Amino acid sequence: MNLAILGYGTVGRNVHKLLKEVDGITVKYILELPDRLTEDCMVSEPSIILQDPEIELVVDALPGIHPSSEYIKEALSSGKSVVSSNKAAICSSFKELNELAKEHGVRLLYEASCGGGIPVIEELMRVGKLDEIDSISGILNGTTNYILYMMQKEGMSYGDALKEAQRLGYAEADPTADVSGFDVRNKILILSSLAYNGYLTDDIPMIGIESITKEDMDRFASEGKTIKLMGISKLEGSSYALAVVPVLLPKDSMEANVPLNFNIVSFTGNYVGELKFYGQGAGGDPTADAVVRDVENVLYGDSMAFYRSFENELQYKPELLSGRCHVGGELLTDTVVAEAAAKAKAEGKSFYFEL
Ligand code: HSE
Repeated sequence: MNLAILGYGTVGRNVHKLLKEVDGITVKYILELPDRLTEDCMVSEPSIILQDPEIELVVDALPGIHPSSEYIKEALSSGKSVVSSNKAAICSSFKELNELAKEHGVRLLYEASCGGGIPVIEELMRVGKLDEIDSISGILNGTTNYILYMMQKEGMSYGDALKEAQRLGYAEADPTADVSGFDVRNKILILSSLAYNGYLTDDIPMIGIESITKEDMDRFASEGKTIKLMGISKLEGSSYALAVVPVLLPKDSMEANVPLNFNIVSFTGNYVGELKFYGQGAGGDPTADAVVRDVENVLYGDSMAFYRSFENELQYKPELLSGRCHVGGELLTDTVVAEAAAKAKAEGKSFYFEL
């Protein structure tokens, strides 16, 4: 099978490396910037790839919504399967991309878009065939987990920890997407849309980690707590609520003990109960591993196993997520997360949700 890789950053480079271990794959093209064409197969004109009938599979390893989403649409419309690690592009047109893949009888897989190397989407889809999944939560960003971990365990400053996360290839091209919660927003929207089989697009409460200080963390530790940035999602009947917020956790919980660039994702099915998935959520090799597993799925797999029709009409009901909210140091009990987070933002105050 001939494939092309779009992008040669941390993910694209490592996908290229790992694909050398897969029989039956030829990397015919790599899309790269005109001044960086270091390999014979590199091209800087996307139409060479998207209009080549020999290309059966396009691996999208680009960052950001544009032009990635346009390339994915064109590839699917031309009868090419797509594997993407780009959560921003997938989330931005999730329903349309699924419909295009179905219409053209090709695969659209994006395991690496949520949780790096963790095989969470495949398992979510598998469990969701039998069970009704009604909650998802997790640490879904390696960069922010790394920053909070290094601040707490190594006494590193926020700025130094962020620089190190960038150096290690964990952060987005623009790390604001990591620290502001936008990256987690994309991931929890993708996972929830899949789990609840409804296309979720709302603006959801989103608070990042920018204002968390070492002093805050020391205070939390003295109270037996740890803070993590988490995505949280709940379904009740045909109503749902989502949030991306810093969460205060008991220090002996599994989530509180997730180190470095690792992620943890939990979901609950009505028969299976709670499941937790743990692994490296960011970084070249783990993310490329998830991409290459998807490539192998296209190469050998069941061609229709992963479609979602998003047929459920779901209503956003923020009240489903409520509890102990800390706004500017004040504890508000039985409070709706969306309301307390909005208040904190409007008043320029800190916000934490406590589990
Ligand atoms: N910047 C992302 C993270 C990469 O830190 O989790 C993996 O999606």
